[in-house]
This record gives sequence, C-alpha cells and structure tokens, in this order.
Amino acid sequence: MVRHGEPEDALELTEVPRPAPGPGQLLVRVLAAAANFPDVLLCRGTYQIRAPLPFTLGIELCGQVAEVGAGVTEFSPGDRVIGDSLLPHGAFAEYAVMEATTAMPAPAGLDDAEAAPFYVTYQTGWLGLHRRARLAAGETLLVHAAAGGVGSGAVQLGKAAGARVIGVVGGQEKAAVARELGADVVVDRRSEDFVAVVKEVTGGRGADVVYDPVGGDAYRGSTKCIAFEGRIVVVGFASGDIPSAVLNHALVKNYSILGLHWGLYQRLDPGGVRDCHAELTRLVAAGAIRPLISERLPLGDVPYGLRRLADGVTTGRIVFLP
Ligand SMILES: NC(=O)c1ccc[n+]([C@@H]2O[C@H](COP(=O)([O-])OP(=O)(O)OC[C@H]3O[C@@H](n4cnc5c(N)ncnc54)[C@H](OP(=O)(O)O)[C@@H]3O)[C@@H](O)[C@H]2O)c1
Repeated sequence: MVRHGEPEDALELTEVPRPAPGPGQLLVRVLAAAANFPDVLLCRGTYQIRAPLPFTLGIELCGQVAEVGAGVTEFSPGDRVIGDSLLPHGAFAEYAVMEATTAMPAPAGLDDAEAAPFYVTYQTGWLGLHRRARLAAGETLLVHAAAGGVGSGAVQLGKAAGARVIGVVGGQEKAAVARELGADVVVDRRSEDFVAVVKEVTGGRGADVVYDPVGGDAYRGSTKCIAFEGRIVVVGFASGDIPSAVLNHALVKNYSILGLHWGLYQRLDPGGVRDCHAELTRLVAAGAIRPLISERLPLGDVPYGLRRLADGVTTGRIVFLP
C-alpha cells in the first residue's frame, strides 16, 4: 500500500524483499489470504490501527511456516498455520510475518482458502455470541449482513449453538445464500422491514441476541425489536454510520449493548483465544461450520476484490491466492 485512499488508488502490485522473522516471529509462505472489511478501512486510513506507509496490506491468512525467529518453540518449518499478519508484512503477498504466540494450527478439514478466514472472522463470531452475549440454545439470534463475512460465520455459529437464526441481507441473491447457510428466517432489507418480521416471527417478544456488523439503521432497528433482557453485540459499522446509543431506551426496555473488539482478546486473554480456536476446530470436525468462500482470486485482483467488499456486494469471504 503506497498511499491512503480507495483500494484501486492506494494499492500497487510490486516486488519487495522477502521479510526476515524477528525473535518470536514466523515467516510464512502465504497459501491464502482473506479479504476483511478492515483491509478497506486500512486503505482509507480510517481503521483503528494505522501502519506507516508503505506497507503490505492483508490482516488474515493461512500460510506454511518457512522460517522461525529466535526463541520460537510453538511451530516448525512446514507447519500449516492460520492467524493475523504482523504489519508492515501483511498477507496480500507471497510471504508474510506472524507472531508465533498468536498463530494457530490450521484445521485439517479445511483447504487453504477455507482456513484463511477461520481466524478473525470466526473467532469474532464465537467470542461475540458466546463470551459477550451468552447465546443459549432455543434463543432467537438476529444477524445483520447475514450473507457477508462475519455475518455468515455468525449464522453458522448460531445454528451450531441451537439458536433460531433470523438473517437480514440486502438483495435476493444474498437471501438465497443466507438460507443456504442455515438461517431459519431471512429478511431482504431492501424490500422488507426487518423490525416487523422479527416481531412477527417471535410473537412480539423480539430477538434475544443481535449480531450487528453494520451499524446505522441496522442498530437503530434492532433496538426496536430486541427482547426483554436481550443483548445487542456491536461488531462493526459497515454502513459507515456509527449510531449513538439512547441509554434511557436501554434502561426502559432492559437490554444490553455489548461492545466487541476481537483484537483485545488476543492481547488480554490469549488463553481464551486458544480455547476459542479449539472449540471452532471441534465444530469444523463435527461438520457444524465451514467458511463460505465465494471467490478465489489472484494477488493482482486485490484492489478489485476489496472494491467489491467495500461496495457491499460480496458474500462469504473473497480469498486471494498468491
Ligand atoms: N469487532 C470486531 O472485532 C470485528 C472483527 C471483524 C470484523 N469486524 C467488522 O465487521 C464488519 C463486517 O466485516 P466483513 O469483513 O465481514 O464485511 P461483510 O459483512 O462481508 O461486508 C459488509 C456487509 O455490510 C452490509 N452493508 C450494509 N450497508 C453497507 C454499506 N453502506 N456499505 C457496505 N456494506 C454495507 C452488506 O451486506 P447486506 O447488503 O447483506 O446488508 C455488506 O455485504 C466491518 O465493519 C468490520 O470492521 C469487526
């Protein structure tokens, strides 16, 4: 990435020296890198993390360990791992650098492209639904952008937890994807009012848990159809609209607004992240969850892929294969 801006302006495909792993780090050959909305925000320079320019973009990957830095005991060359990259040596490249302590073994049941989004995307879902919202079997879960990256994971994880899942999507094609993912009820926000549908299918009670990666009207509508003692998990603001919470409304209706920042778990509760990975790996092995990969593209298509993600027209995850 050479400058801040939209992906097609900010990114250039170029040759750079192969990075060397520092102490405690891994150099990995990238097998597949997942496109995440934060990659778009990093391009624009509006993400909560900023890296000095120029740097190699790409936060999430599946790779094969090529070299280990001093003191690394967790992994050896040849191991297949997943995790986040250590900027400036990001994942949209042939080689990337990772912290050995935060990398995880890639689940055997997933191919490289499927394994790439099995870190940030699925851990965000699991920690949001289980650690933050304490989702219970039999509860109703409302997922916004249910055919998208984190949303598709949340639909699968909600079903795996025994919840009844209502997915909100933009458009009929995405509605078909959300149904395929297992959503029990699907609402096309372009032609239907999700608040009315949630009230109708829950007999007026509302959703017990809301998983919201969109913000704006998705959040505001959610407060109108949240159940008594419901929990709204604030995952992100893909709409670009960061809503304000009306606290007297939360008080009057007895609901909770739960912030979720996956990266903080990695820093403050690495054991919890490892437990989460173990549980997710078990769910893959049991056939309960599996990342939806809609497009497998070459590295030269990173600006095109991120453009589509920014425009909200992708489903599941786009993955780049070096
Ligand atoms: N809290 C955390 O730790 C954490 C971790 C990972 C990701 N995130 C956040 O989660 C959000 C989703 O990330 P993702 O990579 O999985 O993206 P994504 O959900 O695959 O794509 C965004 C989706 O949001 C919906 N959307 C609604 N209004 C939109 C608009 N104006 N522009 C673009 N999209 C719009 C679209 O779905 P519909 O058309 O179906 O509504 C679109 O497909 C991002 O805000 C990201 O930063 C947070």
